[in-house]
Amino acid sequence: MNTSLQGKTAVIGGSTQGIGLAIAQELATMGATCILLARNQQALQEITAALPVPYQQQHSYKVADFAHPDQVRQAITAIVAATPVHILINNTGGPPPGPIAEAAEDAFLTAFNQHIICNQILVKAVIPGMKEAAYGRIINIISTSVRIPNKNLGVSNTIRGATASWAKTLSNELAAFGITVNNILPGYTKTQRLDSLIQNNASRRKVDPKVIEQEMLNEIPAKRFGEAAELAAVAAFLASPAAGYVNGVSIPVDGGKTGVI
Ligand SMILES: NC(=O)c1ccc[n+]([C@@H]2O[C@H](COP(=O)([O-])OP(=O)(O)OC[C@H]3O[C@@H](n4cnc5c(N)ncnc54)[C@H](OP(=O)(O)O)[C@@H]3O)[C@@H](O)[C@H]2O)c1
Repeated sequence: MNTSLQGKTAVIGGSTQGIGLAIAQELATMGATCILLARNQQALQEITAALPVPYQQQHSYKVADFAHPDQVRQAITAIVAATPVHILINNTGGPPPGPIAEAAEDAFLTAFNQHIICNQILVKAVIPGMKEAAYGRIINIISTSVRIPNKNLGVSNTIRGATASWAKTLSNELAAFGITVNNILPGYTKTQRLDSLIQNNASRRKVDPKVIEQEMLNEIPAKRFGEAAELAAVAAFLASPAAGYVNGVSIPVDGGKTGVI
């Protein structure tokens, strides 16, 4: 099975911690040259310097806040002017939690900008280089809420469905050019995002965070939370030459939590 990413360049969003960071580490290990995107410049600097370099890759980063799509446009324009991008990982922070009936209208617009509009800007910039290379892997980190909405994540559930529809449409348009578009649907994965969701839910319900944690674990057949590295392994496969005929799918990586076939 060909899983080598030697000679490939990957742009990875939201990669200073959690799932994005784990994906950058895995892609770098497989030989890709990684370009990280996030807001925290110091973290970007330190993480970029510490990424694996089995083929003496020159990893780099750009600072961009996905709440400001123009910053994303500026960053990706500079990237594609310097190098073709073969792998794009669309990933950023999730929308704040809360019941949908209490969500402010603006929260939907903010989430739409941060997820769909930024993804669209990134994709339009990388498509020409992917077409020329006849190799493209667009991987969107979404959520199992594409299939079954999560409690207390009203805005997030809404935007995840839109992202999955956007991705499926794109996969149909790009398949003939050797470009695949696939989604990873993380279940409960041990990252700072999960910690903050547990804390938020505990404060809202005025219970100990351990109660919330146990309720979440009870929903998972594997009876444990996922590791970011377990999500990254699936992303790495989808990014590889071996996954060339996998297109337009959404793969839950959730310890069996999503209760649909
Ligand atoms: N963890 C889970 O259980 C879980 C489950 C389902 C879905 N997800 C989704 O999967 C994605 C990644 O989750 P995660 O758990 O890895 O999240 P995380 O631990 O909160 O990490 C988010 C990453 O995105 C970056 N980021 C956040 N806001 C940004 C912005 N406005 N502009 C640019 N970068 C931004 C952060 O870096 P900076 O602070 O440096 O910008 C960080 O590197 C999120 O969309 C999350 O909602 C997670």
